[in-house]
Amino acid sequence: MNGLLKTLGIGKLNQGAFTGSTILECRGKTLESVSPIDGKILGKIRQADSDAYDRVVQEARAAFLKWRDVPAPKRGEAVRRIGEAFREVKKDLGSLISIEMGKIRAEGEGEVQELIDMCDFAVGQSRMLYGFSMHSERPGHRMFEQYHPLGPIGVITAFNFPVAVWAWNAMLALIAGDTVVWKPSSKVPLCAIAANYIAARAIKDCGYPDGLLNVVIGAGEEIGRRLAEDRRLPLVSATGSVPMGRHIGEAVLSRLGRALLELGGNNAVIVTPGADIDLAVRAILFGAVGTAGQRCTTIRRLIAHNSIFDDLKERLISAYRQVKIGNPLAEGVLMGPLVDSQAMEDMRKALDEIKKEGGRILYGGEPLTGGVYDAGTYVAPCICEVENGYPVVKKETFAPLLFMIRYETIEQAVEFNNDVPQGLTSSIFTNDLRESEFFLSARGSDCGIANVNVSTSGAEIGGAFGGEKESGGGRESGSDSWKAYMRRQTCTINWSGQMPLAQGIKFGES
Ligand code: UN1
Repeated sequence: MNGLLKTLGIGKLNQGAFTGSTILECRGKTLESVSPIDGKILGKIRQADSDAYDRVVQEARAAFLKWRDVPAPKRGEAVRRIGEAFREVKKDLGSLISIEMGKIRAEGEGEVQELIDMCDFAVGQSRMLYGFSMHSERPGHRMFEQYHPLGPIGVITAFNFPVAVWAWNAMLALIAGDTVVWKPSSKVPLCAIAANYIAARAIKDCGYPDGLLNVVIGAGEEIGRRLAEDRRLPLVSATGSVPMGRHIGEAVLSRLGRALLELGGNNAVIVTPGADIDLAVRAILFGAVGTAGQRCTTIRRLIAHNSIFDDLKERLISAYRQVKIGNPLAEGVLMGPLVDSQAMEDMRKALDEIKKEGGRILYGGEPLTGGVYDAGTYVAPCICEVENGYPVVKKETFAPLLFMIRYETIEQAVEFNNDVPQGLTSSIFTNDLRESEFFLSARGSDCGIANVNVSTSGAEIGGAFGGEKESGGGRESGSDSWKAYMRRQTCTINWSGQMPLAQGIKFGES
């Protein structure tokens, strides 16, 4: 364990502010990083104080003024080196993610792979920062749009993806010519220190200045708020809960800055009468139980047709029985602990609400105790039968809690899918073209992501990631998400030697 931490540049006491690979002395309160696996302290962090925060942003600003002059494909070359550096530490960093956050080894390493994929994507994108050109209505005029670097940007990330979501933002920001000030979740600070250090070193080795990738560790109410209110940061990208997004979004908007929000989900899967049930069960198991139900893309609602409801229920219960729960690093374990005791408490409260509202627990839900479960963070994943109208169904509980809901018609299923405040991801299992096309049509799913015969979770980085309604509206990672990290400029050039006005206006001419 200590060997692993040392390899990743982590000591017993760490500072909570970095400008690139340079460590800043901090005077904030000490934070402990605790492993949810066994409750052991992994390391301590002196959190960033106000001075350290200011220095980080100053350095990020200074580095931006140099970085914006580096040609974008050269910036891409630096990101390629970052990707190579992460390839070398995939196993170690994957293990640290498992130890600090609690997800199983395959998912920890999968998360590092997601980071690497994002580097590769950004390298290609660095040669494709395309703007449109358009025909002017005036003779002898040329019009086009171009994209310029935006500035140092703030990135706030959640505990459940300690490094991948940072990479979604940071790698695009880098190729866009921006620098990054990252505030990771206080539940997984060591992953952030390790990841930023690996990336910052790779950039430094390319001969670029420190200060391109920076970290500030501190409480949301202090550091998160500073980022949101800081006019030096033209964009703040925040991933996390809806209440967090509301605070950050309001603060950023009140200074008319840009906020990119990727918030909670309350994702549903519709299973239709003609669906391939075996396929659906496998996808639902991964989507509902994977990462112990702590992905923003986790399946929370299962909207199943009356005719297959009981069959699906039985098959799912028997699949849930097979799930080995325990130390996420152990062979064969599919579900590790929840991140902390607060998460356990949230799940308990949700179960109380379900029972009060008339729901039936079909499987699991009980905390696991004794032996490997001593830390008090383990729970049996839970399946409940509920009705769509229950208030608890409208909430996102960040836990392995799956609601089964019956439906009669496909219209009703889609109505249920859309009948929650969140709109992140959604999916239908069907072999019927009409059903799947209806689901994907303008009258269908209202979510940012809509899948057919694919789980709601486990999205690839190539598509734009994000959701509608309370899920925040932002788009990160693939497709044209890079545009959010640049400033857009429309240019008109007059080479005609005349001064014609648009809209045919004559002004001061005889
Ligand atoms: C998140 O939970 O915030 O689609 C991100 C997925 C992952 C990303 C989840 N690629 O499940």
